[in-house]
Amino acid sequence: CGIVAIVGSTPVAPLIVDALKRLEYRGYDSAGVATIESGHLARRRAEGKLINLEKRLRDEPLDGLIGIGHTRWATHGVPNETNAHPHFAKDVAIVHNGIIENFADLRDELVAEGYTFTSQTDTEVVAHLVSRELERGETPEKAAFNALKRLEGAFALAIMFRGDEDLIIGARSGPPLAVGHGHGEMYLGSDAIALSPFTNAITYLEDGDWAVVRRAGMQIFDMNGDPVERRRQKSIGTSFMVDKGNHRHFMEKEIHEQPEVISHTLSHYLDFAEGKAKRESLPFDFAKLDRIAISACGTAYLAGLVSKYWFERYARLPVDIDVASEFRYREMPMPKASAAFFVSQSGETADTLASLRYCRAEGIPIGAIVNVQESTIARESDCVFPTLAGPEIGVASTKAFTCQLSVLAALAVRAASERGTISAQEEKQLVRELSETPRYATQALKLEEQIDRVGRKLSQYKHVLYLGRGTNYPMAVEGALKLKEISYIHAEGYAAGELKHGPIALIDRDMPVIVIAPHDRVFDKTVSNMQEVAARGGKIILITDKEGSRRAGIETFETIVLPDMPEIIAPIVYALPVQMLAYHTAVFMGTDVDQPRNLAKSVTVE
Ligand code: G6P
Repeated sequence: CGIVAIVGSTPVAPLIVDALKRLEYRGYDSAGVATIESGHLARRRAEGKLINLEKRLRDEPLDGLIGIGHTRWATHGVPNETNAHPHFAKDVAIVHNGIIENFADLRDELVAEGYTFTSQTDTEVVAHLVSRELERGETPEKAAFNALKRLEGAFALAIMFRGDEDLIIGARSGPPLAVGHGHGEMYLGSDAIALSPFTNAITYLEDGDWAVVRRAGMQIFDMNGDPVERRRQKSIGTSFMVDKGNHRHFMEKEIHEQPEVISHTLSHYLDFAEGKAKRESLPFDFAKLDRIAISACGTAYLAGLVSKYWFERYARLPVDIDVASEFRYREMPMPKASAAFFVSQSGETADTLASLRYCRAEGIPIGAIVNVQESTIARESDCVFPTLAGPEIGVASTKAFTCQLSVLAALAVRAASERGTISAQEEKQLVRELSETPRYATQALKLEEQIDRVGRKLSQYKHVLYLGRGTNYPMAVEGALKLKEISYIHAEGYAAGELKHGPIALIDRDMPVIVIAPHDRVFDKTVSNMQEVAARGGKIILITDKEGSRRAGIETFETIVLPDMPEIIAPIVYALPVQMLAYHTAVFMGTDVDQPRNLAKSVTVE
C-alpha cells in the first residue's frame, strides 16, 4: 500500500491523488482520500485503480487544506469500497500500510466495549483505539502514542483528527514512511518520489518512530515517547513523471531499455579498458569468505539463483540461497567468514528486509543489490551495489532483473579474481565477454516479430511448462513466473533433469514446453529431456542459439534462435526473449500488462 498526507495551504485532495499516482506500484486494489471539510471528516473512496478515485473526486470534489490518502494492496478484507482506506472512527481518520497482527484480539476487545466496525480490515482497529483514547480525554498526540503501543505487526500509519486542522501524526514500524518539509506546508509519504513534486527535503522515520507533523514543522519521537533527531536529507528523487514514450506499455519500454541500462550497470563495476573488475572497498574480503548467503523475493530471487552458479563455478565460493520469506524464519547459522547479499528492485520488500536484519543480528557483513538507492534495504546495508536500471514502473520486473544479473556477474568475476580461482588472463576474458552483453541484447530484441507470433500461439493454451539446466534453470522459472504474472496462463518452470520425476506426466498436445537451451556444457543433456517430451507428443518451443538449433535434431513447434554467445552472458541475454514471450502472449490475452491483477510492485507486508 502507499500513503500520502499533506498539511497544506491550498486544497490538498488533487495534490494527494497526484502523489498517490507515484505510489501505485505499491498496489491498486482501491484508493481513497480524506480531508476535513468545514470542520467535518469527509472522504472519497473507490474500488480499483486511482483513475476511479479521480472520477469520484471530479463529481464530488473535496476542498480541505489537510488530508490523507492511500492506494491499497489488499491484505485483510476484499478490495471493495468499504474496505478502502481512509478508515474513520468518530473524530479519527487513518490510512495504513502493513498488517496489524494482533488485530483480531484488539477487535474482540473493542467490540466487547461496544465499538462497531464497518469494514473487514485490520486497520479499523487502529482508528478505534485512537478514538477510544480521545474519549478518555487524551490529547491527539498522547492518544496516538497510547494506541501505537498496543499494536503488533508491521505498519506505517498517517492519522488525522477532526478538531485539529493543523495536525497529522505519522508512525513507522516496518514499512517506510518519510516526512517532507515544505514552506508553510508539510507532507508524509511512503517514499521520497511520491513527495518529489512538493519537496526534496526529506526526513525518513526509523522503525518505532512516530512524528507529529504541523504546518510550521515537525517533531519525531521514538517508541518510548522521547523526542529524537533524525537527519534531514536532500532526496535525489526526481519529480519528472516517467512516461511510456512510443511504447504501448511500460513493460515494453523497459524491455527495450535493457541494452542501455545493462551497459550502464556493467561499466559501473567493470573496467573494460583494463579488462578487470573494479575494486571499490568492501566491508569484507572475498578471499577470506567461506560462503555467502543470498536472499530475495520473486524475480530478484531468481537473479540470485543464477548468480549461485557463477559464484560457485568461477570463484569457488559456496552460495546458500533462499527465498526471503523462508530465510527469515529458517534460523540459518552464519559462520563468521560469511557475508550476506540481498537483492531487491524496490529495496523495501518486507521479507527481504527481515532477512537482512536477521543477518545483521548475526553480525556478518551485508551487501545490498538494489535499484532504489534511498530505500530501507540500501540504508541498512554495509555496502550498496546499485543496479542502474532507472525507475521500473511495470509490475513485472524486466530491466531491474537483467541489471541485477549484471551486478552479480561482475561481483562473481571480482570474487574469482580476488580468490585466485581465475587468472588475470581469464578475468580479462570474462570482462571482455560481459562487455558484449548490450550488443547481444540488442540482437535479441530483433527477434520481437517472431516472438510476437509465438505469443499469439501460446495465448491459445491454458498450461505451459518451462525447462532449463544450469543457469537456464532459474531462467525457466523466471519465464514461467513472467508468463503467469501478466497473462494469467498457468506456467511452471523446472530443472530439465527433473522432468522425468513428475512433470512428464502432464505432457500432451495441449501442454507446450518451452526449453531454454543455448549450446553450452549441458546442452546434450537438455536435448535428451526434449526427446522425452517429443516422444510423448509434447509441443516444443526451443529458445537456443545457432549452434544449438543446428544440433538439436528435433522437430519443434517453434525455434527461437539467438546468436552464439559466451556462456557467462547467456542468462542475461536469454532473459529478453523470455520476457518478450510473456509480454506478447499477455498482449494477445488482453490483460493489464503493467498492472496485473492482485499484484503489487513493492510488497511491504509478509
Ligand atoms: C513483487 C514484484 C516482483 C518482484 C518481487 C520482489 O512480487 O511483483 O516483480 O520481483 O516483489 O521485489 P523487490 O522490489 O524486492 O525486487
